[in-house]
Amino acid sequence: MKKADAAARVRELRERIRAADHAYYVLDQPVLADAEYDRLMHELQAFEAEHPELVTADSPTQRVSGAPSERFERVVHREPMLSLGNVQSDDELHEFDARVRRLLGLPEGEAVGYVVEPKLDGLAVELVYRDGAFAGGSTRGDGVNGEDVTANLRVVGGLGANRGVPHALEGRPPPRVEVRGEVLLFKEHFEAMNRQLVRAGEEPFANPRNAAAGTLRQLDWRVTARRPLSFVAYEALVPGGDPWRTHWDKLEDLAGWGFETNAENRRCRGIGEVLAYRDRMAERRFELPYDTDGIVVKVDDLDWRRRLGAASKFPRWAVAFKYPPQEEATRIRRIWASVGRTGVLTPVVDFDPVRLSGAMVARATLHNEDEMRRKDILEGDWVLVRRAGEVIPEVVKPLPERRTGAERPFRFPAECPVCGARVVREEGEKVYRCTGAACPAQLVGRLCHFAQRRALDVEGLGEKLAAGLVERGQVKDFADLYAVPFEVWQQLFSRPRKEQDATAARELPEKSAQNMVAALERSRSTTLRRFLFALGIPQVGEATAATLARHFGDLARFMDADEEALLAVRDVGPETASEIRAWTQEPQNRRVVERLLAAGVRPEAEVVEARGPFAGKTVVLTGGLSAMSRDDAKAEIERRGGKVSGSVSRKTDLVVAGEEAGSKLEKARSLGVRVVGEEEFVRLLKE
Ligand code: IVH
Repeated sequence: MKKADAAARVRELRERIRAADHAYYVLDQPVLADAEYDRLMHELQAFEAEHPELVTADSPTQRVSGAPSERFERVVHREPMLSLGNVQSDDELHEFDARVRRLLGLPEGEAVGYVVEPKLDGLAVELVYRDGAFAGGSTRGDGVNGEDVTANLRVVGGLGANRGVPHALEGRPPPRVEVRGEVLLFKEHFEAMNRQLVRAGEEPFANPRNAAAGTLRQLDWRVTARRPLSFVAYEALVPGGDPWRTHWDKLEDLAGWGFETNAENRRCRGIGEVLAYRDRMAERRFELPYDTDGIVVKVDDLDWRRRLGAASKFPRWAVAFKYPPQEEATRIRRIWASVGRTGVLTPVVDFDPVRLSGAMVARATLHNEDEMRRKDILEGDWVLVRRAGEVIPEVVKPLPERRTGAERPFRFPAECPVCGARVVREEGEKVYRCTGAACPAQLVGRLCHFAQRRALDVEGLGEKLAAGLVERGQVKDFADLYAVPFEVWQQLFSRPRKEQDATAARELPEKSAQNMVAALERSRSTTLRRFLFALGIPQVGEATAATLARHFGDLARFMDADEEALLAVRDVGPETASEIRAWTQEPQNRRVVERLLAAGVRPEAEVVEARGPFAGKTVVLTGGLSAMSRDDAKAEIERRGGKVSGSVSRKTDLVVAGEEAGSKLEKARSLGVRVVGEEEFVRLLKE
């Protein structure tokens, strides 16, 4: 590669790594899978090795990531908290061992004693103890400066999750000792906490590490106290020199002082034993009650450790072996096309169930035909599968060497598997679509979309009922919903209980039918915003629907708007404008809208007040409100001319933080966005 090209790629890599670092360490919202991040970092390292003249002091390869946040007091670590060099192969582990031996000048045949520990996937912290009493603690931050999170650390382990952060040490600790370790959430606690967040209408955390980091970096320690964080110790430092001969002795003292140390830690003689430990742990990692992403290998003899010292960023006496993302081989049983609400056919791959990242997986979806062709995936193939980000099942690649000749390429059906209508892939399109306007699969999806709470809010109308209506030929479009005879509702509600929607299952059929009719009646008076969203126009989500409603003010003006008029709407680009125009010009769609109006549906423009504290403002809601639901709060803000957004950015004017507000509140504080609590919010609504 030419030098100019290399320089451009290096710049690009650094930018992507910095953005990912910021998202991970400061916002606690990762944007890259670990493996992808490591790949970028390795690529950058390779470029810099080849073109040393391109290395700069601020390159991500030259420093520890994770700038400390300005929300907390800074703490300067007495000794920097280094991070670890990463290796991923046996060869690299052997190289590490060879370097240690070379630097120490060990004779051939003398094995190095190592301590091996699971690499815990949490947040590194340092705790300072004076005369055995907890005196303060901080996050790693950028390795030199950390964040003072003393108040939060004091309540780690308070729920009896494990021993947590001891307030006073047992035994006879030195007058000052700095204890380092990992704050983390056990998987079981993480799942319980996410369930609670979802119930409260909050975003769940992506993984235990983010949950632990988000919780420890709360401004209100009471929030931290309610969550079952744990602390596991793995290092101790004493000013003036270590009183221990080996790392193992140190771990024993830590346990004796009352810290939790990892029961999986082991002593190994030579790198061979390290490899065996690594293999055992890699197999068992998903059985452990906490997340691990590798193992850490440390030279046990502390004298040797001092002699080995550290390079600018990593110690030479330790290394982390990172597990590769887990992949398993399995055989594809069947590929089929699933039809969604918009008529798009998605290839679904069913394979023999395999255990991946701790769960059984038997199905993955591919984006579209191109991905399937590019990856060369055939029905009957043996394939490697994994869970992207250890979550979403994904087919990585086929294993062509295991083909028998019986494998067949999957062809998209010419006819929709649900309604039999023609399936087409238009020129320039990536996807196949069912052209059946009355396709039951599309129709059921569209009806559910139409009836959902944030659209026309027809309470009690879920997938089972919608499918029942479509199956009986009662409903061909939204407007038909308002003409379903009472007896049909009654019949649908008398079906065996397990087939009904859960909410309706407990009532008598007649009562349920009455409720449904009443819900439909209520849905007739709605807002233009909800109505436009309910129609399911491609590209028109809730936010765009709100903007369109505000802009056009009434339905007729919207239906007749040409592309130019649509382009004049804030946030509407050429693609959306052309999709909307295509939709409103389709005679079938116009007929449905007319029939909805004829059925008595009245989409009213919302009165938007041009003045007041919310007019023209972008507001983010986070945490639970006690006086109203989140949907109601949103409606109140929008009625006052405000826009509600899901994420905090520099463009946010106001954040309303309720109970247990999490990362959004932190982000607002870090960006200096105005934050109000529920009481103040209610007062502003009254203004
Ligand atoms: S030792 C210089 N031991 O890995 C020694 N670190 O990449 C560094 N980590 O910031 C710390 N488990 O967050 C050590 N058993 C373990 C660890 C561990 C996880 C993390 C820690 C550190 C990062 C270094």
